[in-house]
Amino acid sequence: KLKVGFIGWRGMVGSVLMQRMLEEQDFANIETVFFSTSQVGQQIPSWIKTITKTESNLADAYDLEQLRQLDIIVTCQGGDYTNKTYQPLRQLGWNGYWIDAASSLRMADDSIIVLDPINQDQIHNGIQQGIKTYVGGNCTVSLMLMAIGGLYQAGLVEWMTSQTYQAASGAGAQNMRELIEQMGSIYSSVNTELQAATSILDIDRMVATTLREAEFPTSAFGAPLAGSLIPWIDCALDNGQTKEEWKGGVETNKILGTVAKPIAIDGTCVRIGAMRCHSQALTIKLTRPVPLDEIEQIIASHNPWVKVIPNTKEATLSELTPAKVTGTLSIPVGRIRKLAMGEDYLNVFTVGDQLLWGAAEPLRRMLNIIVN
Ligand code: HSE
Repeated sequence: KLKVGFIGWRGMVGSVLMQRMLEEQDFANIETVFFSTSQVGQQIPSWIKTITKTESNLADAYDLEQLRQLDIIVTCQGGDYTNKTYQPLRQLGWNGYWIDAASSLRMADDSIIVLDPINQDQIHNGIQQGIKTYVGGNCTVSLMLMAIGGLYQAGLVEWMTSQTYQAASGAGAQNMRELIEQMGSIYSSVNTELQAATSILDIDRMVATTLREAEFPTSAFGAPLAGSLIPWIDCALDNGQTKEEWKGGVETNKILGTVAKPIAIDGTCVRIGAMRCHSQALTIKLTRPVPLDEIEQIIASHNPWVKVIPNTKEATLSELTPAKVTGTLSIPVGRIRKLAMGEDYLNVFTVGDQLLWGAAEPLRRMLNIIVN
């Protein structure tokens, strides 16, 4: 059995990964070592002990000698850990597989961004050619490709612009908590007036005051998200894009293997008050006009998780929302229609769980590709 070390497995993405591995009984095929950056030597939780048959306590995630003995390292610990550990470990001559959720190594020449329903050939060729570093993609990129991978595969995308509606979870666990605190704080500020049937404009004025108060909880987001939105994600690049917007283009082209002749992909990334599902409105310039029923067929047949939702109000409200999709691997694609600009301009809207297909699932599947 291959020896697999897990780092950052108790964080948000790591916990979802553990849950999925448990559901799919992935632990049966590997020998495990659980690492920690902060609780070295402590006991691992008993459920993990039982399922993985791991005897040892938490190992030191910075102990290169111990890391060196692993066949595979799976890390959800974040970019700082990767930046501190990856190069020193390789310099010691470690030649194992490094599977990473963080973005640090994504654009490296000797890494592959993993999303096997899209790039399984690239992954298998990479393994044969001795590539040892496999990195999960940005969540909006992975979710977008799971949704319309069929259109890319059919060569139908000339260019694409995406307007995103990104959930709090993408910013971290603390941000999810803050979103709920913000919602609660808004409600508390007008609770009495709501019961008293006070005029809505008066209630709205009170809500606006609450949002702007210095005590309103904004330490994680830096601005109100509940009752508002934030049209900025990650840091600034010097061309006016945010880094999140930049990733949409470069990562998609790397996954598709189109870096030499990149497809133009750009848009605006926006944080909204959803918990853990990212949504995206995509405008696609088709390479040729294709009838809608054919488009739907191409989208629906690409992978087992994508689901075409009829463009009706009823189906949209019941199937195409974060509330419906959260906690599932389902990738609904709806609002499929031609735009007023012409027959070769396509509109679609898609929703996906940012922690599942957006983060943990591609890593879990990559581990299985190596192990099996
Ligand atoms: N960067 C993404 C976000 C999540 O902030 O929503 C991770 O890919």
